Amino acid sequence: MPHGVLHRFEAFLPVTPATPMLSLGEGDTPLVSCPRLAAEVGCGELYFKLEGCNPTGSFKDRGMVVAVAKAAEQGARRIICASTGNTSASAAAYGARFGLAPLVVVPKGNIALGKLAQAVMYGARIIAVDGNFDEALDIVKRVTETHPIALVNSLNPHRLEGQKTAAFEIVDELREAPDLLCLPVGNAGNIAAYWKGFREYHQAGRAKVLPRMMGFEAAGAAPIVQGAPVAHPQTVASAIRIGNPASWRLAVAARDESGGDIRAVTDDEILNAYRKLARQEGIFGEPASAASFAGLLQLARDGYPLAGQRVVCIVTGTGLKDPDTAMSVPGDLVETAATIEAVERALIG
Ligand code: F0G
Repeated sequence: MPHGVLHRFEAFLPVTPATPMLSLGEGDTPLVSCPRLAAEVGCGELYFKLEGCNPTGSFKDRGMVVAVAKAAEQGARRIICASTGNTSASAAAYGARFGLAPLVVVPKGNIALGKLAQAVMYGARIIAVDGNFDEALDIVKRVTETHPIALVNSLNPHRLEGQKTAAFEIVDELREAPDLLCLPVGNAGNIAAYWKGFREYHQAGRAKVLPRMMGFEAAGAAPIVQGAPVAHPQTVASAIRIGNPASWRLAVAARDESGGDIRAVTDDEILNAYRKLARQEGIFGEPASAASFAGLLQLARDGYPLAGQRVVCIVTGTGLKDPDTAMSVPGDLVETAATIEAVERALIG
């Protein structure tokens, strides 16, 4: 059975007879219903889409498979991206799979350990620059103007084409679009991709409603909310530590056309949602991914009308990517001697 985004959604993607139809099994991620949290938040239904179940542990694989397939089809030999970590992990994996050499440019010392380990293992050339993501993206854009290297950041429209398939899957599974879609916003490509996906399915008659797109930036990296680039973005959620998003205009269009909103969530709100999701529902997303649920909790607190609403929160990447942040959360760890008595004592109290 052929699997993956290119096969499943071929009719909606820029696939030609010359497109190599490879896959690592991306897409088809779980949509988990959480009625207890729905009751707590006060919405009708609440689902989490676990994009961390993609082959490299984040939603980036949906767009990367399309971007890298098209680059291969067009005869590219090398691909390049700037990244806060997940795009580089995905580019490195799909570069290996399609036989294109991956080059990744990352902010030195500022990407989560698991993501760096992935780029190392998949054999990417890793260029760690003394700067932030926005500077890295600027450099990569300039490099591709003068070198024959395919750009696989979300400025490459094939990336958003692939990422829109997550919206298709939600509609296919719920048999309708949700009322509200909550997701983190960093470089702002994903919110634009989801909106494109929901609109295309709506036009194709597969959904009657269009969701309101609710995007959440980290408060220390919230250029869209503030209406101006942020020179030195800061947040615990390193994946969305971005001060000048490439798809800014598309994100604003998605917000306005859908009647949604883009808001800021603080690091405390992110970390609270990160813990709550893991401890109450067994869903371990990375900190940036928790911005979706942090945002929903904020909406509930602010009295946003949620009663009866069907809400989907996107968990964009797995928590295993960022062990350092996970280990900074107070855990319940007891070390004892290897005896029955010592372990029995540790069971209580
Ligand atoms: N969540 C995670 C886990 C991410 O890695 C990213 C972006 C986002 C959310 C935001 O999505 O950029 O489409 O608004 N990560 C990029 C990267 C920037 O380089 O991996 P966006």
